[in-house]
Amino acid sequence: MEKRTIPRHIGIIMDGNGRWAEMRGLPRFEGHKRGVQRVKEITEAASGIGVEVLSLYAFSIENWMRPEDEVSVIMGLLEESLKGEFLNFIKEGIRFRVIGNRDKLPGNIKSIIEGVEQATDKNNRLVLQCALSYGGRDEIIRAIRKAINKGLTPEDITEERISGFLDTAGMPDPDLIVRTSGEQRLSNFLLWQSAYSEFYFTNTLWPDFTKEELLEAIHEYQMRDRRFGKVSNSSGSLAGSGGSGFGVRSAF
Ligand code: IPE
Ligand code: IPE
Ligand code: MG
Repeated sequence: MEKRTIPRHIGIIMDGNGRWAEMRGLPRFEGHKRGVQRVKEITEAASGIGVEVLSLYAFSIENWMRPEDEVSVIMGLLEESLKGEFLNFIKEGIRFRVIGNRDKLPGNIKSIIEGVEQATDKNNRLVLQCALSYGGRDEIIRAIRKAINKGLTPEDITEERISGFLDTAGMPDPDLIVRTSGEQRLSNFLLWQSAYSEFYFTNTLWPDFTKEELLEAIHEYQMRDRRFGKVSNSSGSLAGSGGSGFGVRSAF
């Protein structure tokens, strides 16, 4: 795989757990269990090929509206896997962090998250960013509130300042966003940050998603011509040379 064009930041909308279970006549939580099991292989694969940030959409702010028993199964699985993976994060140099609205999370989960975040804070191999109780609009609202509380004036508001108040502050924007299960929407994921992301949609349900398919998504990404509003890099002398785009296809 060509190193130069490995996405620095990949976001994955891990969708389709419920349908995976329903197709097999199983309760939905079995799909969530299987879904959690996929995370390790995908994280290791991303880390192994030199991805810097992997953002996994685990639970949206709208997902709180699901039936109480499903929500509590998901929270239980999360608690279990954080406790189980903690030492592995240390061993693998993974820095774990959560983006999303923590006020809505149960106290025990919140303190486990804080513990894992602090203990892995200095790790620098891969940032594993878990979007939990996350909504892009909610994140933007919280960012605006922070800016107002800091006393920023209208002139102070710039893209950089807004980015700095988001939960993802300091992280590069996602280069590639993958969504499993056939749905082709963002469902409130990284709205601000995805302005120039490339998208990869697959019908594969998240519990069936493998390392091979991640590599396939990256391969497809490497064929894209990222123009960032400019003229293609490969289309002549007027083409801009900035941005992290790479024009591999000729312009049509
Ligand atoms: C994604 O799978 C996991 C969460 C949203 C928590 P779903 O539970 O949305 O699965 P489907 O979309 O119903 O199949
Ligand atoms: C988005 O999936 C959230 C996660 C994958 C965690 P949903 O299943 O909640 O999204 P919609 O409702 O189909 O848009
Ligand atoms: Mg879904």
